[in-house]
Amino acid sequence: MKTVIRRMTLDDLDEVLKIEREVFPDSWSRKSFEFEVIHNKYSLPLVITLQNKVVGYSIVWKLFEEFHIANIAIHPQMQNRGLGSYFLQEILNLSMEQDYALLEVRESNQAAIHLYKKFGFLKLGIRTRYYANGENALIMKKQLKKTANNYPVRLNITQKSVEG
Ligand SMILES: CC(C)(COP(=O)(O)OP(=O)(O)OC[C@H]1O[C@@H](n2cnc3c(N)ncnc32)[C@H](O)[C@@H]1OP(=O)(O)O)[C@@H](O)C(=O)NCCC(=O)NCCS
Repeated sequence: MKTVIRRMTLDDLDEVLKIEREVFPDSWSRKSFEFEVIHNKYSLPLVITLQNKVVGYSIVWKLFEEFHIANIAIHPQMQNRGLGSYFLQEILNLSMEQDYALLEVRESNQAAIHLYKKFGFLKLGIRTRYYANGENALIMKKQLKKTANNYPVRLNITQKSVEG
């Protein structure tokens, strides 16, 4: 199975938005993604593809010393096979000049919190009622090393899982 991580383009947005709307209650608009792809000079918009199909994406903001993971998602039918871990590992490896990675995550999002903790993110604080439904966000931070992050990641992907 060929997995590729590359910069997001406008042509990816239909597939990206399909995933975004399935996984997030307060999903980003097409305009927000267009801004990240075309205009935001601090942004690193990425997709991960499997057999040329977009199975996940992420938006990272490189804000001087901060590597801010603003958005990351894997297609619901492709979750729990190691793709999120593989993608996050590769994303963190793009952070060479930044000192730390930071992100917000819903307090109830056990899958994401588990993933971030596995990669050494620690809880830094809480943003109260951060989300539209009133839910709190955990702020999580990881100090970055100036060397590549190498975690043991095992992908569990078969032809059947790609075809759905
Ligand atoms: C968070 C997300 C990107 C993880 O992607 P993934 O492809 O499922 O990740 P992996 O398969 O690598 O699994 C990562 C770990 O989470 C665990 N996990 C998966 N679902 C879980 C759940 N519901 N509860 C607890 N842990 C869970 C896996 O077992 C794995 O742990 P392990 O490596 O210790 O076995 C994916 O769940 C997702 O896209 N969620 C919706 C969008 C989202 O919430 N993004 C984060 C916003 S802050």
